[in-house]
Amino acid sequence: MTLVAEPLSREELARSTAKRLRRQTNEGGGEGMRKILIIGIGSGNPEHMTVQAINALNRADVLFIPTKGANKTELAEVRREICARYVTRSDSRTVEFAVPVRRTEGVSYDGSVDDWHARIATIYEGLLSEELGEEGVGAFLVWGDPMLYDSTIRIIERVRARGQVAFEYDVLPGITSLQTLCASHRIPLNLVGKPVEITTGRRLHESFPEKSQTSVVMLDGEQAFQRIDDPDAWIYWGAYLGTPDEIVISGRLADVKDRILETRAAARERMGWIMDIYLLRKGVDFDE
Ligand SMILES: C[S@@+](CC[C@H](N)C(=O)[O-])C[C@H]1O[C@@H](n2cnc3c(N)ncnc32)[C@H](O)[C@@H]1O
Repeated sequence: MTLVAEPLSREELARSTAKRLRRQTNEGGGEGMRKILIIGIGSGNPEHMTVQAINALNRADVLFIPTKGANKTELAEVRREICARYVTRSDSRTVEFAVPVRRTEGVSYDGSVDDWHARIATIYEGLLSEELGEEGVGAFLVWGDPMLYDSTIRIIERVRARGQVAFEYDVLPGITSLQTLCASHRIPLNLVGKPVEITTGRRLHESFPEKSQTSVVMLDGEQAFQRIDDPDAWIYWGAYLGTPDEIVISGRLADVKDRILETRAAARERMGWIMDIYLLRKGVDFDE
């Protein structure tokens, strides 16, 4: 038997779109089950918050803010500022919780991440069951966008799979550090019609420049760009993007490499922490 899908009528399409938007924005939750909102908050500038994210913040009875460990004090401060600026309802609460530090000794990388996620899942489970009523709405404020080098979705799925607390959840997108980097340098992410790789400092050697003409590097504790020896490589680097301390440097890698290393080391010393991201490129656009 062949099933042919009938196209939706204009009214059906409107109803289905409205239902989807209701689910993603202001309504839903409070329908007999806890609701979790995983909200992307942008990467440092409170003005990165989308209207959808602001509406979601105001839908939450409890706002969960990570404080220690991997999340530096300054990042918690941006989250607090976002709540102070955008939460207009007076009956919601903020609950801060400490994120454990990942244990690295005596385990493989995958084993260490798995153990870390399991411990965070236990914390989330406690937060959901102790801080949220059975029909309550809780929000996790995720740096940048939850889909990019962030495990909140994975951990929430893990909590769901354990089956101890019943809930449903939605994800609301945010502005990533990658978008902020490109905007600050006023560059497109990709060369015309070309792919892009997003990777970590640890794995950069696997891609650029042999396999990828554009590589974006995040989570780089070793400044992997210093080992790239290619006269045609360009770098677009940024630290503390979106914040008042933002620093950006760009140029031919061979020419600016040392300046980035010195600037980064000095900033890290001054601030006590650093978050940076960069894009490496080889080749130019047709219209450049
Ligand atoms: C755990 S990942 C989180 C990424 C985040 N979900 C996003 O959408 O950008 C942290 C990495 O993102 C990058 N990053 C995040 N915010 C940044 C910022 N404001 N300035 C520079 N790099 C940033 C850095 O490479 C950092 O090591």
